[in-house]
Amino acid sequence: MSTDNEIARAFLPVTDEVVQTDLTVTGEIPRELNGALLRNGPNPFSGRFAGNDVLDWWPEAAMLHGLTFSDGKARAYRNRWVRTRNWAGHFNADAAGELVESNPNINVIKHAGALLALSEGGQPIEITPELETLGASNALGTFSGGMTAHPKRDPVTGELMTFRADWNKPWLRYGVIDGSGATTVDMEIAVPAPAMMHDMAITETHSILMDTNVAYDFSMLQKGFRIPIRWQDSRQSRLCLIERDGGKVTWLEIEPCFIQHVVNAYNAPDETILLDVVRYPSYFKLDEGGEKFLPNPLGVLWRYSIDLKNGSVTEQALGDLHIELPRINETRMGRENRYFYAVEQPDHDEMRGIVRYDLKNGTTRHHPVPERDQNSEPVFVPRPGGVNEDDGWLLVCVYRDASNTSEIRILGAEDISKPPLATIALDRRIPAGFHGAWITAD
Ligand SMILES: [Fe+2]
Repeated sequence: MSTDNEIARAFLPVTDEVVQTDLTVTGEIPRELNGALLRNGPNPFSGRFAGNDVLDWWPEAAMLHGLTFSDGKARAYRNRWVRTRNWAGHFNADAAGELVESNPNINVIKHAGALLALSEGGQPIEITPELETLGASNALGTFSGGMTAHPKRDPVTGELMTFRADWNKPWLRYGVIDGSGATTVDMEIAVPAPAMMHDMAITETHSILMDTNVAYDFSMLQKGFRIPIRWQDSRQSRLCLIERDGGKVTWLEIEPCFIQHVVNAYNAPDETILLDVVRYPSYFKLDEGGEKFLPNPLGVLWRYSIDLKNGSVTEQALGDLHIELPRINETRMGRENRYFYAVEQPDHDEMRGIVRYDLKNGTTRHHPVPERDQNSEPVFVPRPGGVNEDDGWLLVCVYRDASNTSEIRILGAEDISKPPLATIALDRRIPAGFHGAWITAD
């Protein structure tokens, strides 16, 4: 078992920005991998994280990491802080007035031709594949000023479904942005109080938001908490089912919970929607004195079955493995998926190991990662022209504790228990972070 201090090494920030082209590769990189793996996450400008919890990482500056591939070769690794007004202030840069005040440290997407770093509700910032900051973008229509870091793209229509859960009124907006960046839906959704919503789901007909027992409590700011959110027994967890084109909104009550990330959702036979998530029975719960958080339980795969005929919801665990950061082949987004991939969590402090679920057979396959090492979420890259859902690769960033360095592993998605097809070793650390994306070379 590793101690807290040892685990924390995977979370230590890096202090500089580099471009490295002389990369050590073992194995064979698939020639069809042409593009860049981008990874976003918080990295303080100096010093280290205040603690070892997601709420300590969340406010820290956005740093992007990128590894480019072409023609069977790993070309370059880069890391860059996103140029924000905060960045300019810290480094005494001149251009502060032209920079955006936002902290897009959560995710990366490409939409309407723009590559965007996304924040938890704040303004997205456009970047280049080389991780240079371009600045404000209007590729997200009327949501360009701020939105979730987990919008969902329909792979067939090219539409991006999104929402904004704000600390200010209106507390909740839902929208659809078409493939050209034009807003086709922008509607307010009435909620009694601001909710903490991180992820969302789509099907071919509906979008689903999750309003859980975790919500804002601004009185926490006076007590010194940096992020004023906590579990609230008094709240009723609900799914918000929205007709995707901005039609009817239906609230559906569910058991008390917190949902951080969605696996996928889709329209199933008999007018049913299936929604798979990683669910927690509680999260961010304060101790009795309201002074500090209790340890969070670990999340498990959970399925909601929504009966559209009568508006009822049934829910059940689909296993007891502790997982987070689920990813699918996103060409199946909003459609029935047989497989998904996730990080395993052997305990609270570790993200160690990758699991592949086969939802049809109820089986799992595993890519184990040794004790003391840690890994990022598995990003699925479909093989160009591939037909089968699992025809592609998983790109996983693994922190190696013994060398204090990171490596990118390329796993064959159809059997992740086999050794990696290729490993690209860096001579430095990519600190543990949030989400990443595969951006194909255009
Ligand atoms: Fe997330």
